[in-house]
Amino acid sequence: MENIIFRELNENDWDKGFFELLKELTQSEKLDEEKFKEILKVINKTANIYIYEDIKTSRIIGTATLMIEQKFIRGGGKVGHLEDVVIDKNYRGLNLGLNLIEKIINLAKEKGCYKIIGNCDSNLIGFYKKCGFSNKGIQIAIYF
Ligand SMILES: CC(C)(COP(=O)(O)OP(=O)(O)OC[C@H]1O[C@@H](n2cnc3c(N)ncnc32)[C@H](O)[C@@H]1OP(=O)(O)O)[C@@H](O)C(=O)NCCC(=O)NCCS
Repeated sequence: MENIIFRELNENDWDKGFFELLKELTQSEKLDEEKFKEILKVINKTANIYIYEDIKTSRIIGTATLMIEQKFIRGGGKVGHLEDVVIDKNYRGLNLGLNLIEKIINLAKEKGCYKIIGNCDSNLIGFYKKCGFSNKGIQIAIYF
């Protein structure tokens, strides 16, 4: 789709539908512009948020976050953490999700990661297998 561009989220993206998109993933009320910019700066210390923008509408229609974790193990290896993957419901089924994950995998390789890990619901295993992932271990969580 020639009207869809891939790039990093930046501080000018506050009003381009990013929060509405995240709402399709989980509870995500819109923050004010100042808070958006402040949090993006904090996130960008350890992670990068990548997006698809439909340049015809100037709306953000897909996103994924790659966080890089520096380790002592594996000779000072790096692990990529895949987070907050979502494609706007009006743009699903067009291979944009698959394409987005492929881009994240390439970025993680370029940044020197030896693997990418992430969590997903069991109904999404099929999607992630198509992206090259395999089912590994069991997720644990504690919510406060
Ligand atoms: C999961 C999601 C990102 C997939 O995006 P998408 O752009 O619709 O997916 P694609 O069109 O790239 O699909 C690629 C392949 O995966 C398959 N696929 C997509 N969703 C799937 C699912 N839930 N289960 C099994 N296979 C799936 C597609 O059929 C396609 O395979 P095909 O080419 O053989 O037909 C999207 O459905 C979404 O945003 N869901 C809501 C948010 C969410 O759950 N995010 C994941 C959090 S871990």
